Amino acid sequence: MRTQLRSDTSLLEFWEATRLSDDARYPDQAEPTAGTDEAIRAALAGVLGHGCGQRVGTVLAKGGTFVQARTTPSAGALYPFEVLVGLSDGERCVSYLYEVDSGQLNSFSSAPPVPLAELVAQAGLADVEPAPVRAVITLVARPWTSMAKYGRRGYLYTYLDIGHAATNLALAARAAGLEAAIHLRFRRQWLAHALGLAGTCREPQAVVTITAPEETSTDRPAADPPADGDGVVTPVWRDRRQARLEPPGDPERRNFEALRDISLAYAPAAVARPGRIVSVTEPPPPADVSADVVLRRPGSVPGDHAALAVLRQSAKGFLPAAVSLDQLAGLLEGLDGQLAADFAESAPAGVGVRVVARAVTGLTPGAYAWSARRYALQPAGGGPVEEEDVLATCQRQDGLRHAGALVLLHTPLRSLLREQGRAGLAEVHFHAAHVAQRMCVNAARERVGITCVGGFDEAHAARLGRLPRGGEAIYLLAVGVADPAARKVDRDPVAYSHGRKAAGLI
Ligand SMILES: Cc1cc2nc3c(=O)[nH]c(=O)nc-3n(C[C@H](O)[C@H](O)[C@H](O)COP(=O)(O)O)c2cc1C
Repeated sequence: MRTQLRSDTSLLEFWEATRLSDDARYPDQAEPTAGTDEAIRAALAGVLGHGCGQRVGTVLAKGGTFVQARTTPSAGALYPFEVLVGLSDGERCVSYLYEVDSGQLNSFSSAPPVPLAELVAQAGLADVEPAPVRAVITLVARPWTSMAKYGRRGYLYTYLDIGHAATNLALAARAAGLEAAIHLRFRRQWLAHALGLAGTCREPQAVVTITAPEETSTDRPAADPPADGDGVVTPVWRDRRQARLEPPGDPERRNFEALRDISLAYAPAAVARPGRIVSVTEPPPPADVSADVVLRRPGSVPGDHAALAVLRQSAKGFLPAAVSLDQLAGLLEGLDGQLAADFAESAPAGVGVRVVARAVTGLTPGAYAWSARRYALQPAGGGPVEEEDVLATCQRQDGLRHAGALVLLHTPLRSLLREQGRAGLAEVHFHAAHVAQRMCVNAARERVGITCVGGFDEAHAARLGRLPRGGEAIYLLAVGVADPAARKVDRDPVAYSHGRKAAGLI
């Protein structure tokens, strides 16, 4: 979604925009705010571009219109979030709004006039890495963007969308030689006020803090900004251009108010537990290990996140063909990879990974629990899986009919909500999105078609996947041989099946 920009100097901007040289298009680019660290700005622009920026191509969005494609998936291509970036100018924190659609980082004047370290401390962004924080990336949900189409379920999609983006930003940062930590247990209300978001129907859902390890000290000369042309648009810093957020209308206000009992924005922050998280839980050990299907671990996995981020995309449909067992093995690679985060509980948290094989060469159809530790699929029962099972599970989304496998990310949600309340809801959806994003990147490497699916029937999914008692699928991925000729249609019936009966409802 394009955020509205206003400027006092529209004539000047028009003039600048009509000139042909790059210097003329971005005249302020050469004059960064005094004191800002050029090296970190250059590195961060690349991280933002690869983490959640534009990639080549367009995708179908609301009302049958096409929008610029991005490096992370989004339910209905609605991207119901905004990205605020805080940096230090030497004395205080300066903020930018990352306008993904225009590839610009525009100065955002609502930022608090405090040093970056103070913002980090006041917002309760726990120390996860030993080095000082160099940048704070706040992923701000605008729930109405998704809820206007998907009703209440749309709020969960904001968690998933933001989870994909936060994960991908962390992976892109690591690929660029920086460290990133994910924060979900911070003082949301404080940060919302500090960033000038109060009354805008937006909530900071996740923060990614960026640190630079000693050996990649940014005291060295500024690195060249990552080149465009690798398929991702590297955003441009614009210090003199002021961005403002689109103000909410009445339906959005009413909708936001109705989230009071669900949103973490209105609850005290859970106690931060800095450490490393793994988002995949291990299934209980099987009674008969000999029945396991042990997969071949991919040899040396190229860790070129930058190249893969560009290639990631959703399959719009699948061909009636099988995927290979090695492709499935590649898809499941590294799902237990760690991320630095502030919700590293001592008890294992995360989601179970259940594979429902329909057409995978060399694998008997049925349900399997994935053990990342043993790199093995544990048979969980079930027999042949029909196209009809896929359709019934995926809200009759016809493009998914020929999926060779469904991957269910599941958890005993009701007991988790009883024990952990809203924080549990937010964190388990982050875990699901973390696993899903790694699968999306793997799929790009393995050239397997993949579609993240939010529109699925939980009861069918639980039966098909033979989920353990109390287990519920909270996210689903369809996997298969992508049909390059397939075209997506804007499926309002799916949106309606999520509870939307008339416009303006939550
Ligand atoms: C939370 C979530 C739910 C989604 N649900 C569906 C779905 O039910 N059906 C579908 O075909 N695609 C679904 N998608 C994929 C989006 O349609 C896709 O990401 C979007 O169109 C952008 O295209 P791209 O992934 O190729 O960039 C979902 C994506 C996300 C992140």
